[in-house]
Amino acid sequence: MTSLVASYPAGSAAFPHRGLVGIAGLAPHEILFLLEEAEQWVKLNRLPQKHDNRLAGLTIINAFFENSTRTLLSFEIAGKRLGADVVNMQAAQSSIKKGETLIDTAMTLNAMHADAIVIRHGSSGAVQLIADKVSCPVLNAGDGQHEHPTQALLDALTIRHAKKEFNGLKVTICGDILHSRVARSNVLCLTALGAEVRLCAPPALMPAEVEQMKVAPFLDFDAALEDADVVMMLRLQMERMQGQFIPSPREYHHLYGLTPERLAKAKPDALVMHPGPMNRGVEIDSNVADMADRSLITRQVEMGVAIRMACLDVLTRKVRGVEGWT
Ligand code: CP
Repeated sequence: MTSLVASYPAGSAAFPHRGLVGIAGLAPHEILFLLEEAEQWVKLNRLPQKHDNRLAGLTIINAFFENSTRTLLSFEIAGKRLGADVVNMQAAQSSIKKGETLIDTAMTLNAMHADAIVIRHGSSGAVQLIADKVSCPVLNAGDGQHEHPTQALLDALTIRHAKKEFNGLKVTICGDILHSRVARSNVLCLTALGAEVRLCAPPALMPAEVEQMKVAPFLDFDAALEDADVVMMLRLQMERMQGQFIPSPREYHHLYGLTPERLAKAKPDALVMHPGPMNRGVEIDSNVADMADRSLITRQVEMGVAIRMACLDVLTRKVRGVEGWT
């Protein structure tokens, strides 16, 4: 894959944003710029010595108000591989538990002269609220049902490595679309890059605004799989559900679970993705998730570190005084 970075606008014109709150608002060439920037980190991360010191002296705070394995660890690894001092704030042990507000918490982090703050929060819009209050770049690590932009970027990087092209690629996203920030960010990202996105869910888990999205909605999983190049499965987000959205996990699996027989309805070389965490036997069978030649699930995790390194590098160029980044 040849690098296109040289053809992008010079300096901060290539990515003129202060932070990364969502894919919404990013131009296709800005998304591609971040993917291109990540390529150098994919290579570095495959070497025995994985260090680059460009963020030395900078402080990055990961403030996670919701549980995470992949996103928290990959942001921590990304910051450390770039030489930054990385601090993780666990909300469960923080003064939030004593009644401190989110804004007061943000102002406290800001007063410590963080150079970038990475936030995961259960409320849609919480990350923008903090971004408006602090003086450093803020990166959204997932806010409520709103956006998870670095997940969409790592998914796009994974797809590009496997399929090379986005134009005309048929991507079926199936699962709990209603509660999924991953689905929202992926729809914005993949459609901006020219892919054809299909969203599939039971009626109760399909958002009303699907008609306004540039996607094809499906209630029938078999129909949504026809001719698909990529099948992205999403878990049921029970923690965001109030009331009963599905009759039972068993019935959900029968209608919307990805089995080898179902995958056979997609293209013969269709690839399988899942952002994790997976609920094996509910939305995806183990013998699909673990298919060595078709499943990209562990590759997604690998690309997550590279994408987060690219985002931290690009968004701290101004504070580091990199030429052209004003
Ligand atoms: N995909 C994702 O956001 O996973 P975590 O919740 O483990 O970070």
